Amino acid sequence: MSQNPFDRQAPIPGIKHILVVGSGKGGVGKSTVAVNLAMALKKSGHQVGLMDADIYGPSLPRMMGALQQKPEVNEKGQIQPLLRHGLKLMSMGFMVDEGAAVVWRGPMLFKAMDQFFRDVAWGELDYLVIDLPPGTGDVALTVAQKVPVSGAIVVCTPQNMALIDAKKAMDMFERLRIPILGVVENMSYFVNPENQERIQLFPQGDLNNYLKAKNFTKLAEVPFHPHVALSSEAGVPMVESQPDSPEALAFQKLAQEVGVKAIDWSAESPAPLQP
Ligand SMILES: Nc1ncnc2c1ncn2[C@@H]1O[C@H](COP(=O)(O)OP(=O)(O)OP(=O)(O)O)[C@@H](O)[C@H]1O
Ligand SMILES: [Mg+2]
Repeated sequence: MSQNPFDRQAPIPGIKHILVVGSGKGGVGKSTVAVNLAMALKKSGHQVGLMDADIYGPSLPRMMGALQQKPEVNEKGQIQPLLRHGLKLMSMGFMVDEGAAVVWRGPMLFKAMDQFFRDVAWGELDYLVIDLPPGTGDVALTVAQKVPVSGAIVVCTPQNMALIDAKKAMDMFERLRIPILGVVENMSYFVNPENQERIQLFPQGDLNNYLKAKNFTKLAEVPFHPHVALSSEAGVPMVESQPDSPEALAFQKLAQEVGVKAIDWSAESPAPLQP
């Protein structure tokens, strides 16, 4: 047997496409995008799972209204994902209390991720959406090593400060041979309710030029709206709570783009490079 750890990327039976949502920078809206993308894919008729791989700061239990829930173990000894808003949900947040710190070394992380992939009864899924922690660290590498990822969605806010970090994430995905589906520009603008004028909240950086130069797609521009944050706090994602809002429509557009790309994906994923 080969010693290359990347050879161990066995597909998860029953799961058609694995998508990761990441970015180099913290707080740009990865979890918000992951949750709403998953909801939007579900609304278009797909079977969808949502996995919180942000083991250091899991936020999906709160955002999906599943705080203080504990998944059950079924008769086969598999962990049963929670069902919330029609999504199958798994998070390290179910294993540790909110506020408790997870301090893990690489091998423990590797084992926990393996459990999330192999010991959770995901069943048949069209998409498993994985919310990654910020940065280009162990978790993203572990996911890339463990399972064949169909594509990455990179979240960025408009300013160059965020772009610098997003570039690092894109570089990492390229090196891991994970196809980059494109970038979501989050908190792109705010619409003044008084006069419908678009207000730029962050200085517009070089994202558009960068995407053009690299031939990457901007998958969606999600406006800023306090309702997005309120929805998350209340545990009902925007796509569910206010489906006709411009923010929810932007997430629907993102899901459509991902769906179109999914048609092109072959079952055969390219062999990843050693990092
Ligand atoms: N379009 C938006 N409009 C308003 N608030 C938003 C929007 N997108 C995200 N937020 C808010 O910004 C904060 C950060 O978002 P989120 O937790 O999704 O980011 P993250 O990138 O996952 O963060 P972390 O790096 O900590 O995992 C949250 O309070 C969220 O509700
Ligand atoms: Mg997050």
